[in-house]
Order: sequence, then C-alpha cells, then structure tokens
Amino acid sequence: MGLLFLHLDHGKVTLYTGGYDTFVATRTAKRALDAAFAKKQEAAREHMQSFVDRFKAKASKARQAQSRMKALAKMQMVELPVDERVAPIRIPAPVEASPPLITMHDASVGYEQGKPILERMSMRIDPDDRIALLGKNGNGKSTLAKLLADKLPLMDGELVRARKWVPGYFAQHQLEELDGSLTPIETLSFLRRALTQQQVRAQLGGFGFSSDKAQTKVANLSGGERARLMLALATLDKPNMLILDEPTNHLDIDARSELLNALNNFEGAVILVSHDRRLLEATADRLLLVSNGCVEPFDGDLDDYRRFLLSGENSPTRREQTPKRARVA
Ligand SMILES: Nc1ncnc2c1ncn2[C@@H]1O[C@H](COP(=O)(O)OP(=O)(O)O)[C@@H](O)[C@H]1O
Ligand SMILES: [Mg+2]
Repeated sequence: MGLLFLHLDHGKVTLYTGGYDTFVATRTAKRALDAAFAKKQEAAREHMQSFVDRFKAKASKARQAQSRMKALAKMQMVELPVDERVAPIRIPAPVEASPPLITMHDASVGYEQGKPILERMSMRIDPDDRIALLGKNGNGKSTLAKLLADKLPLMDGELVRARKWVPGYFAQHQLEELDGSLTPIETLSFLRRALTQQQVRAQLGGFGFSSDKAQTKVANLSGGERARLMLALATLDKPNMLILDEPTNHLDIDARSELLNALNNFEGAVILVSHDRRLLEATADRLLLVSNGCVEPFDGDLDDYRRFLLSGENSPTRREQTPKRARVA
C-alpha cells in the first residue's frame, strides 16, 4: 500500500494515493489541465463576445444579442471540475457557399398529399444565420427541420437551395438506426466508403472518441457516445448548414457545454430545435415560431417565449398590446 495524501485546497479536499512525488506530479498535471481549460473557456467567451458585438450593431438582432450577453455572464461562472471534463467537440469548417443558402416562398410540407402540416412558409436563410425553431410539441418543428435538410419533399410552393449548399442533419430517431454490431470506425467507413481510415479516425477524434472507443461496438456505447457518433456523421461532409433537432437529449451537462462551444466556433448556418435554454441563448440569433400550421419570426426574446409558453395561449399576443417595462440596454 502506498501513502495516502489528503490535500486541502480552496476548501476542496482531494485524495492522492502514492508517495509525495506522485502527489506533486499529479498536482502539477492537474494544474496544467486547469490552466488549459481556463484558456479554452476564455477563448469561447471571447468568441461569444465578438458575436454580441457584431449583433449589437444590427437593430433587428439587438434583443438576441442581449440574450447572448446573459449567456456570457453565466458562462463566466461555470467552472467544471477537472475530472469531469470531457473531450472537446470539433465541427469541421464549412464548405463556402454564397448567400442565400435557402429561400422559400409559399412553401408547404407534410406527410400526406393534400394534408400539409405547415403551409405558406416564406423565409430566407443565409450562411451566418443562427436560427432556433420554437413551438410546442407536435407543431411541426421536426417536420420543418426535415424539409430544410431535404429529408422530406416540398409539397407546394417554392424552395431554392444554394448550389454549394451542404446540410448536416442530426435527429434523435437516427440514434435507433445505428447498427449496434458495428464500431464507430466501421459505421463511418461504411457510410462514406471514399474516406481513408485516417480521415475517419480524425473525424471521430474531433468528437471525443479515443482510439479504444472508436473500436467499441455501438451497442456497447453510452447514449451520449452514440449522440456524439451521430454528430460526427452529420458533420462528415463539412456542412454549411447544420440542422440539429434536439441534439442534447442524450448528452450530459459537460458534453452540452462542448457542443455549445463547438457551435459558437462553427461559422456556418445553424438551425436548432432544443429545449436546452442555455444552448438556445448561446446559439440563436433568429427565433422562428412554428405554430398553427405556419412559421413566423417570433417577436421577442427567449424570456418572452417562456412567458408565451406559460400563458398557454396558442399564438403570441403582439408586443404593442402588452406594454412592458423598458429594457435596460
Ligand atoms: N412520419 C410522419 N408521418 C405522418 N405524420 C407525422 C410524421 N411525423 C410527424 N407527423 C405529424 O406531424 C405533426 C408535427 O410533428 P413534428 O414535426 O414531429 O412536431 P414537433 O417536432 O414540433 O414536435 C404532428 O401532428 C405529427 O403527428
Ligand atoms: Mg420534434
């Protein structure tokens, strides 16, 4: 049996096994990790700040910039313990495309001809758009996400995509479609036969897969690891439009932070469906409300949206009718 050291530091007790040298070595390694993490968090914070600065200039996005500033303030308080930190997520840089990525005019979509779920949709999506799809369950958020990802055909109206539009689509149901008998390496290789082993391993590495995990059968992976695998798959083609339908449901809190950072660093368009308030705050600049068979810009920020949900109303009351306290800039 080696020696046990109980180390007290800033009110935290850490147990070290082994001799004093081991204690010092472990302690030094831990400090280096802490420093690296602090640096990474600072970089993420700076990135978010640059978004805030950029969007504050645009009157139409000022309110979203405010949400992001709140997220920024919260982020500075987040400090993850070293042992619980997870590998960062790296989304490949997007293929460049000239705007707009997608334009829609009077578009309808649904599952059965003559019975559209969503109608009369008109919108434009640009390469730097960060859009959250809001709306109650069953209203058609996933249906719209599928239309945008080209997983569902247009029923009526017009939809034009940029020539170099590359989608990256993630949805929960895909997790069930993974073949449990394959390893992550085999899964990616099977779906993209043109990729070399090295490219496959690099992509998996970017989503936190160690060499061991990359060779573990999918059936033996955790829900979070499967979600990471799906994200690795969704981003293989260097998408310039990420369409993420509830991406964090299986991710633990650290992996959520990693996804948040990765999305903030990602330079392409993001379409997000999520109940994760922190992710929405940090990611979305445009809010679209899916309700009553249609899609409209949501006139308000995420606080207004929460109030709208709590009110139980079917459609939001117009701002003019609900005078509010002046917002502090
Ligand atoms: N594969 C499908 N076939 C037929 N109807 C569907 C299918 N998927 C969803 N729907 C219907 O479309 C409507 C919108 O569903 P969905 O887009 O999943 O909503 P949300 O993602 O906002 O919860 C619901 O009425 C749902 O029953
Ligand atoms: Mg859905």
